[in-house]
Amino acid sequence: MTGNPYRITTVCLGNICRSPMAEAVIRARVDAAGLEAWVRVDSAGTDGWHIGEDADPRALQTLRAAGYDLAHSGRQITTEWFVEPGSPDLLLTMDSSNYATVISLAPDDAARERVRMMRSFDPTLAGLPAGDPRLDVPDPWYGDHDGFADVLAMLEAAADGLVADLPLLLERS
Ligand code: 4NP
Repeated sequence: MTGNPYRITTVCLGNICRSPMAEAVIRARVDAAGLEAWVRVDSAGTDGWHIGEDADPRALQTLRAAGYDLAHSGRQITTEWFVEPGSPDLLLTMDSSNYATVISLAPDDAARERVRMMRSFDPTLAGLPAGDPRLDVPDPWYGDHDGFADVLAMLEAAADGLVADLPLLLERS
């Protein structure tokens, strides 16, 4: 470990629904595991439509009802994120389309190796190949509140697996 915090960035399309929810859930799990001094979590979108905006009200309501906090301002990921100081150690995409976009932004093999799909950390989905749509967290933007509850449950299962793997990820960084 380098002494710098291990940086996790969750990524979806708009950065107002899935990736901010994933950010809040992972941060809560990291805190509960006592790893908050070692891990930083943030989020971004592959598109820039919602830069500077708060998370979707349905995402916030779903998070708050389940006891999570989130302060949010939408951001868009670019190639520069892979090279500038403090660049993410792990980029967790929400679906296979986000995965393909982030892989296309990564400048080299070392950067591509930092990109994973969020649900690849769900132990019940272990072994599926990177970019497999069966690992998708479905986009809840066009749906109703139930879609957000489903998203939260998927994120919680994946975040549990991720935090279980964190000691090893921290050791390797
Ligand atoms: P997200 O959901 O990628 O989970 O943040 C979306 C939010 C906004 C839009 C699409 C997806 N949009 O078309 O504006």
